[in-house]
Amino acid sequence: MSMISDGQMVLTFDDVLEVEEASFKVYPEVVFDFDKLFSEPLTEENMRSNNSLAILGESLSVLKKMKDKSVQLIFADAPYNIGKDFGNNSDKWESVHAYIEWCKTWIDECMRVLSDTGSMYFMTATQHMSYLDVYVSEKYNVLCRIIWAYDSSGVQSKKMYGSLYEPILMINKNKKASYIFNHEDILVEAKTGAKRKLIDYRKNPPQPYSTEKVPGNVWNFSRVRFKMDEYENHPTQKPEALLERVVKASSNPGDVVLDPFSGSFTTSAMAVRLGRVGVGIDLNEEYYEIGLRRTGIATERNGKSLEKVKTRKTNAKSKYVRGE
Ligand SMILES: C[S@@+](CC[C@H](N)C(=O)[O-])C[C@H]1O[C@@H](n2cnc3c(N)ncnc32)[C@H](O)[C@@H]1O
Repeated sequence: MSMISDGQMVLTFDDVLEVEEASFKVYPEVVFDFDKLFSEPLTEENMRSNNSLAILGESLSVLKKMKDKSVQLIFADAPYNIGKDFGNNSDKWESVHAYIEWCKTWIDECMRVLSDTGSMYFMTATQHMSYLDVYVSEKYNVLCRIIWAYDSSGVQSKKMYGSLYEPILMINKNKKASYIFNHEDILVEAKTGAKRKLIDYRKNPPQPYSTEKVPGNVWNFSRVRFKMDEYENHPTQKPEALLERVVKASSNPGDVVLDPFSGSFTTSAMAVRLGRVGVGIDLNEEYYEIGLRRTGIATERNGKSLEKVKTRKTNAKSKYVRGE
């Protein structure tokens, strides 16, 4: 890098290359044989590229066809039993008990297909997570209880504190199992000592606090908004940044990352972008088509273009604003 007289930095051609290499990591191309994941052939419609498989189908029946211990990472963002409109499928069970029992069945199937060193992250509504936490704590092992926190200045309740977080449970097979945790790939800015330029006198000799740290278990990521480039027409789309952290931390390039409730296929999109292999399942055809485009499998299906045309998610008001 060279400096000119008024103190401004001028980038030389070599510097530009350096910057680009640092910010756009290129992963080696992965060519994966998806058939080896299954013990019986898929009857559901599916399409694939070298590193991404999208399946239009019911997740439990697809999971049952998958081999034991065949995937390294699972991110499962199932319906929350809160009445969201997922088009052709309902997000409302007859009772909380029925919903919890259903969750247990897919959790068990996921844990069967997870490798012995794998991790699963799953989400549900705050009011349901405690039941599932007890279940997986007894049967498997809880590695971390994560809170995804976000702000919202939109529809606000006047009768209760706003509901501004969603829980994520990170689990693995058992306490003794080793697991991947690439802490160096997910470092964030340290906002305490380093920002205030404090010296850590516990070190000998004393040193400035490090400027980066491993994230804690409260994750602040904005929800996906209409104006954001990543926005897709799905009512509960999760942020790419959240999945980027999960995929980088808990898998290595070339590993298989499964999302049995893919929605807009955020997990697979990030898996592919980060040099992993994405497998996604959703029973809604519109979401499956988003997945085909978003993971680079296809630009059209049955002669229909899969180009992105944004529509707003919902105008529905929260139950507090509706006065329920
Ligand atoms: C909470 S959303 C997932 C959102 C996703 N994480 C994203 O970033 O877009 C749950 C999805 O599960 C799908 N779904 C519900 N029941 C299913 C089932 N039995 N099998 C497969 N998909 C299902 C719904 O169509 C919905 O898209």
